[in-house]
Amino acid sequence: MRIDILTVVPELLESPFQHSIIKRAIEKKLVEVHIHNIRDYSLDKHRKTDDYAFSGDAGMVMTIQPIETLINKLKKERNYDTIIYTSPDGQRLDQNKCNNLSTLTNIMILCGHYKGVDQRVRDYLITEEISIGDYVLSGGELAAAIISDSIIRLIPGVLSDETSALFDSFQDNLLAPPVYTRPADYKGMKVPEILLSGNQKAIDNWKLEQSIERTKQLRPDLLK
Ligand code: ADE
Repeated sequence: MRIDILTVVPELLESPFQHSIIKRAIEKKLVEVHIHNIRDYSLDKHRKTDDYAFSGDAGMVMTIQPIETLINKLKKERNYDTIIYTSPDGQRLDQNKCNNLSTLTNIMILCGHYKGVDQRVRDYLITEEISIGDYVLSGGELAAAIISDSIIRLIPGVLSDETSALFDSFQDNLLAPPVYTRPADYKGMKVPEILLSGNQKAIDNWKLEQSIERTKQLRPDLLK
């Protein structure tokens, strides 16, 4: 998989790809992540990437020119399965959407910023809009990092135990069961007996019961 992220604040996207699981996925060449600075494609003499809204609204709007130039350059180099624009108006990201995105080969993500982007970008240049939740961020970079992280970890081979993503919360519309590690008794706070029993079938049944119980209590909407 290859992910190209288009942003006016590339610095915001440095750290998320330099640690832990995602870093190893890149090192193992299971995914390539390329960050592009939209400003580098501006034909404006001050490398401007935004301008005043024609409607007179307060706040700057991202201009179409540098975005269109960059998107077209990338599209000439390879076919993109999707060109995502991060926006609070978009389709809400959920596990099902992550699963679908994780099967794609080339993904482009355009990070929104300021008061938004010229509507012609949304009408003509992107293929879908994704929101990470019903709240407004100051820019789309963190949303792009979240979208990327949530799909990279699903690529086969990225997690050491390939099956473990299958048992994530939400994969069966159920939250994951609680987990424990040593010591079995910490200051009187004990690990459930069943987990120490060595009876894997009983443990699996317990995990499923716990998942259902947790989901009922914390996210009953998932069971509908
Ligand atoms: N940009 C600003 N807010 C956002 C959100 N909730 N999701 C995706 N992109 C955004």
